[in-house]
Amino acid sequence: MCGIIGYIGKQEAAPLLFNGLKRLEYRGYDSAGIATLDSGLHIKKEVGRIDDIHSKLNLTDIPGTLGIAHTRWATHGGVTKTNAHPHVDCNGNIAVVHNGIIENYQELRNSLDSSNHQFKSETDTEIISHLIEDTMKKGYNFEDATISALKSLEGSYAVMVMNKDERKLIAARKGSPLVLGVANDGYFGASDIPAFLEHTKDVVYMHDFDVAVMSDEGLKILNILDNKQVDRKIDTIEWDIAQAEKGEFQHFMLKEISEQVDTVQMAVQQDKKIIDDVVNDIKNAHGIFFIGSGTSYNACLAASYIFSKINKMHINVVLASEFPNYGHFLTPKTLVIAVSQSGETADVLDAVKSAKERGCKVISIVNVIGSSLTRTSDSFISLNAGPEICVLATKSYTSQLALFTLLSYALTGSYDEGKAKLTYLWNVIYQLTSATMRNKIKELAEKLKGKNNLFLIGRGLQYTTALEAALKIKEVSYIHAEAFAGGELKHGTIALIEKGTPCIVFVSSENEKQIISNAIEIKSRGGYIIGVSPRNNEVFDFWIKAPEANSENPIVQIIPIQILAYQLAVLRGLDPDRPRNLAKSVTVN
Ligand code: F6R
Repeated sequence: MCGIIGYIGKQEAAPLLFNGLKRLEYRGYDSAGIATLDSGLHIKKEVGRIDDIHSKLNLTDIPGTLGIAHTRWATHGGVTKTNAHPHVDCNGNIAVVHNGIIENYQELRNSLDSSNHQFKSETDTEIISHLIEDTMKKGYNFEDATISALKSLEGSYAVMVMNKDERKLIAARKGSPLVLGVANDGYFGASDIPAFLEHTKDVVYMHDFDVAVMSDEGLKILNILDNKQVDRKIDTIEWDIAQAEKGEFQHFMLKEISEQVDTVQMAVQQDKKIIDDVVNDIKNAHGIFFIGSGTSYNACLAASYIFSKINKMHINVVLASEFPNYGHFLTPKTLVIAVSQSGETADVLDAVKSAKERGCKVISIVNVIGSSLTRTSDSFISLNAGPEICVLATKSYTSQLALFTLLSYALTGSYDEGKAKLTYLWNVIYQLTSATMRNKIKELAEKLKGKNNLFLIGRGLQYTTALEAALKIKEVSYIHAEAFAGGELKHGTIALIEKGTPCIVFVSSENEKQIISNAIEIKSRGGYIIGVSPRNNEVFDFWIKAPEANSENPIVQIIPIQILAYQLAVLRGLDPDRPRNLAKSVTVN
């Protein structure tokens, strides 16, 4: 995944692009670059994080009121300056930034090689500039040549292109996110709204195969499937730049954890009609699948326990990447609920595509409106969580849980009761995210920061929390963390418990007796027991008080461990917002 941004207008482009890039850095951060146009094309690019590159090259000091920029997460070609975007054609006249993967890149490159094109990088992106060059040489204008190049691409792309001889910015998307911003003094295009949000709240969500041509004369959008001009409406977004900035917090991760006091409430502020429609779809379905990846999958799993308990309903929960194995169970009466923060996860999009091919109805639960998933689903419910910038999913997870819980209540005819209970949780979340709690968890993090392994156990809903908690700890602190259902650890893995091995135990009043006896088994082998529980217990070496919240326990109990994961990363000298090897949305299979 990479981040792209472009601007054409009255202001100097480079400072706008630089600030935008910093907001897109969560999408990739191994190299970055900017191209601007005044009397000629100017390009600066380098390997490293944007601030480091800026200290070296002064990225804001390039002239021109038209430009494009890119922050990269390498897919084709290593992390080198040459592979950093923007990429240009043979003569350095056409500059391109791209997010996505061109699948027929080798084939296209071979044919361009045979027409003597000189490639500088190992990237798939560079072929785009050469394809445009090639077509322009045949007499086509820049716009037509770009459309012709796009038509020959297989795979996914969000691209922005500029040309040294014209004040035009061309943006196009197929399968990768791209949103336009309509400002008073110009136009933006970017992978994500926060990149230009300080300049405009008016956005146009591009559809697949849309090509936007922005110039000083205005904006025109064509769809290249039928080459017709299309009218895409301008939406005004409701959240503001403060939600996309760190504010008083040192990291987005901590900010987003703290925001849960509001976001859980926002998740249940839904149009009742939308919830009623989904409830009807659930009631009428023959076979229901909840699908997602990573944290979104964990939310699906927790929801299946909630639906089993409250609604006595069996839900099939499947990892999006494993969904192809279930194809033969799908019929036009099957309901698929696809869950994704970004709405761009390739495994989820593929699963949805295959479900639709079999005639299933697909409803999605998504945070990023205008994402591919919102467009490919029959309908969607918004998480309303605002931008989640940290690579780790935190607030989007509790919003997913809140929404699923609301649906479960609505199915029993208790929508108002469910909404009231979830809204009231703010009180508990406020305590759990307070400075007092953060300090207490920091004490625990100090004790655990040098450990290489830890285990987590829970039963029922608490098992699903253990899975999500383990994922959080692993991905940000790089400590190996493994979750088990309470009764399972003793079936083998207990052999790994030795003196001081930490084990986090999630307790609810409902299963207190059984899980405490599992904790005792671990403690008697030397384990260090951390209880996340409504009540203290003598088996706990460290107790984190999480008030009993019944079906809402998953929302309440994950929060202290999100904080623990954060503190562990900070104490281990790691950057919680940008864990190694990870990107915010995984747009490859
Ligand atoms: C975990 C995390 C990932 C995502 C997963 C799915 O903190 O961020 O596991 O949950 O890649 O992403 P979405 O929800 O965008 O489909």
